[in-house]
Amino acid sequence: MREGQRRVAATGPVPAVTVGPCGPDDVVALRHAVLRPHTTVEHATFAEDSYPATAHFCARDEAGSVVCVATVWPEAPPWPAGDNPLSLLPPGPPAAPGTAARSGDAAQNGAVAPHERPAAPRGLARSTPGEAWRLRAMATHPQWRGRGVGAAVVRAVTDHVAAQGGSLLWCNARLGARRFYERAGLTTWGEVWQEPVIGPHVVMYKRVATRRSG
Ligand SMILES: CC(C)(COP(=O)(O)OP(=O)(O)OC[C@H]1O[C@@H](n2cnc3c(N)ncnc32)[C@H](O)[C@@H]1OP(=O)(O)O)[C@@H](O)C(=O)NCCC(=O)NCCS
Repeated sequence: MREGQRRVAATGPVPAVTVGPCGPDDVVALRHAVLRPHTTVEHATFAEDSYPATAHFCARDEAGSVVCVATVWPEAPPWPAGDNPLSLLPPGPPAAPGTAARSGDAAQNGAVAPHERPAAPRGLARSTPGEAWRLRAMATHPQWRGRGVGAAVVRAVTDHVAAQGGSLLWCNARLGARRFYERAGLTTWGEVWQEPVIGPHVVMYKRVATRRSG
């Protein structure tokens, strides 16, 4: 087992999985198969995948096959950076990558235009990248779902964020995964919006007890 990896007993009559950090090449195939099957593998790759601060995590079964993946990097949260959302928001689409569809298709999709977005969660308005980390591309192989593997990967991600001095983990959650994220301690912020092709999303977040001092 490599440094930083943990053996996790999955619930139910299944072999244990090993959860730990991995490289971008380890996550892309499952990410593509589960989250972006309608497009090419290249389109399941993010520019951020190779950034120095980006971390990838996966769970492997006893044969070494990747059964769950997630990626995390420092990124400011999508809510207004001040106390008054109406005065501080720009008129155009939100700045955070991956959220632009909210403004453009707001009328058809029932999405919320940027100027209507609610204020930041209390105490989190000024979270900067470094404090705030974005969880992306969380996916468990269909045959491994419901066994605690995804939860174990989110724990590994959260531990990493805490160890890096982060205090906030957030994501654009698919609505179908909202309960999963709630079980992992995340809370919904703002309204649901429609991501073209992929479907309805909502921002979710949780505070992280940072472990790095100074
Ligand atoms: C969402 C996903 C990653 C969850 O992975 P998983 O390995 O099945 O999750 P776990 O088994 O660790 O579940 C942890 C908890 O969440 C619950 N949960 C997981 N998926 C759920 C779902 N779709 N609906 C309701 N509850 C769910 C489990 O019941 C479990 O609850 P418990 O703590 O009471 O036991 C997986 O279903 C998946 O890959 N879905 C398709 C891709 C996707 O939507 N990814 C999220 C992108 S934002």
